[in-house]
Amino acid sequence: MTDDLLRYRSEFPILERTTYLINNSLAAMPRGVYDALHGYADMWATRGVRAWEGRWWMLAAEVGDQIGALMNAPRGSVAIHPNVTTCQAVVASCFDFSGKRNKVVYSDLNFPSVMYFWEAQRERGARVHMIKTDGISVPTERLLEAIDENTLLVPVSHVIFRSAYINDARAIVERAHRVGAHVVLDTFQSLGTVPVDVQELGVDFACGGVLKWLCGGPGVAYLYVRPDLGRKLEPKFTGWLAHQEPFGFEVGPIRYADPPYRFMNGTPNIPAMEAAQPGLKIITAVEI
Ligand SMILES: Cc1ncc(COP(=O)(O)O)c(C=O)c1O
Repeated sequence: MTDDLLRYRSEFPILERTTYLINNSLAAMPRGVYDALHGYADMWATRGVRAWEGRWWMLAAEVGDQIGALMNAPRGSVAIHPNVTTCQAVVASCFDFSGKRNKVVYSDLNFPSVMYFWEAQRERGARVHMIKTDGISVPTERLLEAIDENTLLVPVSHVIFRSAYINDARAIVERAHRVGAHVVLDTFQSLGTVPVDVQELGVDFACGGVLKWLCGGPGVAYLYVRPDLGRKLEPKFTGWLAHQEPFGFEVGPIRYADPPYRFMNGTPNIPAMEAAQPGLKIITAVEI
């Protein structure tokens, strides 16, 4: 009973009554969330609309950097969205599926929500190639073989939600880059459980949520975009947060801001980002 980490147990009220073994679905709530949400209500109650300039407008970039630090993402490269499906939709909206390079490759062990999203892109021209698996592990060779010169995107999970199998992200990125494809790595089940270094992997996009292994609660997901891509991609799923001058309320087409706001769109989920702070602070202090 001398483990340094034991002092964090009292930060999670449910552990007083429960042996909690389901972070893969929803983490135990850190005690600090009570104060964080009280602070959110106080800010709204006392500052009113001025809360935006006081704290709220910059919060998404701040939370993006906090999460980014856990996966060695450079500052300013991580956008915030309410969920991973939205993150992947933003990525999809950066690409054109009408040309010859329109193949999307993944396995049947992807999380169903993102699978439904990609399947639905067939009507927009995406040619979905899904590798069949044994339901536990991904046959890497078959996945790599499917990634060819016509492949546009490879949206795959890093750690598989059904089985905890770890995809060979490095091999997938290497193969994809050799043929000019982009990898969208879903790190929902890996960030917080195994080392993730987006720069070392050279991955193009990474996304995940904070409600499982990062103890952050529902409503906050992150989207890392490799900085060189971030400067040139133009998401068509966009909105006023992505505008160079959002409060100019310009009429007509968007003039894109720099990342991370370039990859955001509508009003961010402020209470969820406030609720995510205590968990992220603990994970940052403990280190993965
Ligand atoms: C690997 C993975 N991706 C995505 C999700 C969820 O996606 P979304 O944030 O769109 O609900 C989960 C679990 O909820 C997951 O385990």
